[in-house]
Amino acid sequence: MSRSVLVTGGNRGLGLAMARALAGAGDKVAITYRSGEPPQELVELGCLAVKCDITEPEQVEQAFKEVEDAHGRVEVLVANAGINRDTLLLRMSEEDFSTVLETNLVGTFRVVKRASKGMLRARTGRIVLISSVVGLAGSAGQANYAASKAALVGFGRSLSRELGSRGITCNVVAPGFIDTDMTRELTDEQRKVIMEKIPAARYGEPDEVAATVRFLASEEAAYITGAVIPVDGGLGMGH
Ligand code: NAI
Repeated sequence: MSRSVLVTGGNRGLGLAMARALAGAGDKVAITYRSGEPPQELVELGCLAVKCDITEPEQVEQAFKEVEDAHGRVEVLVANAGINRDTLLLRMSEEDFSTVLETNLVGTFRVVKRASKGMLRARTGRIVLISSVVGLAGSAGQANYAASKAALVGFGRSLSRELGSRGITCNVVAPGFIDTDMTRELTDEQRKVIMEKIPAARYGEPDEVAATVRFLASEEAAYITGAVIPVDGGLGMGH
């Protein structure tokens, strides 16, 4: 396979693992990053790094142009970029809420809409949205984040219905607690409480999420769309 793949927020954490996995499968991978320099590892893998804040429409348009010039229209989009601003409801400002929604939901809408243009024309494509177990189960102190991640399920399933007959699949991956910068912010006490609820009794590895994304992006997954796939060690069972 040598498809044009774009992973948003692919410079670190889960996105970096996804970029590595897809490049390893032979795809032409582009990633977006927001600041600093993209990791040397990606440069060595031959990945294209484009600077882009998904909350800025012009930057999204510019990033797609750069990717299309280098690799052709985007055939696989992994909408991975996301943020959290955790706090209890009464302490949650309007800005805490809207910033998280603006990035995780509206930013995802923006990149998906832009990628879908080329996919519709080609009558083929793969869209993978990165949600979270807390979008399905809820989480105290994460009302903004959980709302944004739950919204991706309705968004993705609507797109599955809208785009399915054009050979485009849209699936949602719902990771549990994966060892990345995002979860390293948790206190030891929070980690202990969470660990007790995970049947697999460990945090997940970024590569385990990446393997699921790689499968959903593959030919073999052509008949899977509108699915919400947990990669959570059993944490979200029943949701
Ligand atoms: P991370 O914080 O290491 O990486 C997030 C990436 O998103 C970074 O590359 C960052 O630059 C990018 N990003 C954030 N805001 C952006 C914006 N406005 N424009 C462009 N890029 C932006 O986090 P991690 O853990 O790798 O998370 C990746 C995705 O997986 C996120 O959507 C997160 O919500 C989700 N997730 C993570 C879990 C975990 O346990 N680490 C669990 C469930 C979901």
